[in-house]
Amino acid sequence: MGGAETGADRGVAPPGVPMPLHEVDMAGGAARASGVGELDRVLGGGFVPGSVTVLGGEPGIGKSTLLLQALGASSASGWRALLVTAEESAAQVRQRATRLGADRAGVLVVSETALPHILDHVEAVAADLVVVDSIQTVHEPALGSAPGTVVQVRECAQRLVAMAKERGVAVVLVGHVTKEGSLAGPRVLEHVVDTVLSFEGDRHHALRLLRATKHRFGPTHELGLFEMTEAGLVGVPDAGGLFLADRHPGVPGSVVVPAIEGTRPLLVEIQALVAGKDIPQPRRSAQGLDGGRLALLLAVLERRVGLSLGGSDVYVSAVGGVRLTEPATDLAVALALASAAVDHPVPDDLAAVGEIGLAGEVRQVAHLGRRLAEARRLGFGRAVVPMSAPEPPAGMELLRVATLAEALVGVLPMS
Ligand code: TYD
Ligand code: MG
Repeated sequence: MGGAETGADRGVAPPGVPMPLHEVDMAGGAARASGVGELDRVLGGGFVPGSVTVLGGEPGIGKSTLLLQALGASSASGWRALLVTAEESAAQVRQRATRLGADRAGVLVVSETALPHILDHVEAVAADLVVVDSIQTVHEPALGSAPGTVVQVRECAQRLVAMAKERGVAVVLVGHVTKEGSLAGPRVLEHVVDTVLSFEGDRHHALRLLRATKHRFGPTHELGLFEMTEAGLVGVPDAGGLFLADRHPGVPGSVVVPAIEGTRPLLVEIQALVAGKDIPQPRRSAQGLDGGRLALLLAVLERRVGLSLGGSDVYVSAVGGVRLTEPATDLAVALALASAAVDHPVPDDLAAVGEIGLAGEVRQVAHLGRRLAEARRLGFGRAVVPMSAPEPPAGMELLRVATLAEALVGVLPMS
């Protein structure tokens, strides 16, 4: 006793060795494909051994289904895959797996909620990929508190992270997100884990969107698209026109925008409806679009174009359960509003894209060439675009505009 304590005395891992950055071994960071294409796209290749991923989403959205399919697919390519089911029984999982064609010999399943047992199982089966479904139902008995509390969720996640790093296992934690945010979920885990995936969608639509909101091993902007079918989740690799399927031509208030989600161009129909006059407290509703942006566009329409919708109810939506956040949708939203207001449709083969500034100017947007190419591929022959737009693809005519007012005059009978 007496002397200064060393790291070894305190039971701490041995010290690291500083080394030149370019000599650091990168092999440990190589991703391994899960075999579910859209999932691998979002992950930038696949799961990284030793990493921990949280898959968050509302109950019933399809998290267990997606991961069961990923377990099945990765076991087919030689992973030792372990599912720790802490919500459903092993028999329930088997039933679902059979339906999904994921009931492979390489997928091990154990029904377990106690963390120490889970850690033992991972070690005993020498798993490469472990899914814990869900982190909110796992608990460390020594802590005494109930499963799902912040203390439990954080402690269990931290211990699983330590295990993942130590053993080089890829771990995926399912985390339920509730609208009320009453459960301790993905938010509590964000800074503990390497990757946070969010699984979204409207339960009334079959479409499911997968995004990375945090990712230490790659970009966070990729979007994965699935459809929930009788046979589980089916990837949608060509999603360009997915949102146009039910479009009715010739309806006022409908304008298509070539949006970009991640690196994927998506053509999305924007719909607007303007109803009533001189309503004292008119409604403003934006579905799949930003409400603040709608207010801004209404103000620009009033002050820069002289089109006042102040006394009318105004509804706008991005069709198909998709959420568009980029300002590049401004021009299409403004055109849809004006088209609805004057009750005159814009041409069916017209797409519109551009950001709108407070002065009513139409500003340039990123990736315009890619957006226009996709619109052309899906049959659009005309596009309203900012002045600086590149040359259009063959067969497409551009209406270049400097202001929103010019755009309106170009496509609608405005006085
Ligand atoms: P689930 O993966 O259990 O959701 P989570 O784990 O996020 O709570 O999926 C639940 C829903 O998905 C369920 O309501 C039924 C539907 N579903 C299908 O439509 N097809 C299928 O093949 C499967 C397995 C589920
Ligand atoms: Mg589930």
